[in-house]
Amino acid sequence: MLRLVSINSPQNPTGSVLGPADIAALRDIVAATNIVIVSDEVYEHIIFDGLTHESMARYPDLAARSFIVGSFGKTYHVTGWKVGYAVAPSALTAEFRKVHQFVTFSTHTPTQYALADFLAARRGLAELGPFYEAKRNLFLRLMEGSRFRPLPCHGSYFQLLDYSAISSESDADFAIRLTREYGVASIPTSPFLSRERAPLVLRFCFAKKEETLEAAAERLQAV
Ligand SMILES: Cc1ncc(COP(=O)(O)O)c(C=O)c1O
Repeated sequence: MLRLVSINSPQNPTGSVLGPADIAALRDIVAATNIVIVSDEVYEHIIFDGLTHESMARYPDLAARSFIVGSFGKTYHVTGWKVGYAVAPSALTAEFRKVHQFVTFSTHTPTQYALADFLAARRGLAELGPFYEAKRNLFLRLMEGSRFRPLPCHGSYFQLLDYSAISSESDADFAIRLTREYGVASIPTSPFLSRERAPLVLRFCFAKKEETLEAAAERLQAV
């Protein structure tokens, strides 16, 4: 039987990031097994606070059993284009391609050429982390003094806010109310969890213009 561990760092929705201790724990788990790792690293360049992205590609023993998943959408601000890639040892990609051809029939060619050209120029990767880190910092600063409590976020462009000081409504009900009554859209976290009782936490996206973050925070401050 083939078993698989799926990991995602930087993580959506929590913004948490795997560190060296997590990698050591992962190594312990998979050692002496035939476990395959699917490592979703689409936010690899969107990492803050001086942290280093712990790609499976950095560790030959883990890379040898990993599919590393990347997205040009996150790195090059083209999320709607839905173009990404998976990197794995050839024995694994041989199996992957048998499935892939039935899942994704084709990808739009001009987009692939455009991304290839952009990739060759290697522009903008180093700025991506600081670019979003500044937005996270701005959003957190603007939310200071509100009744929402931010949870730590070290990567991705999502900030979790705990609203337990405001309401005991379910996250879906509260998210709908925030959208209808305050005009700020968020994402409930319960669909990401298998637990029955989800924490009173919503996910907010800070990949927005400064003025949008300011307008959102002003409304959230009034909740
Ligand atoms: C963790 C994670 N993986 C994969 C994806 C899919 O990315 P794309 O739509 O660019 O292929 C997303 C998109 O939100 C994501 O958050």
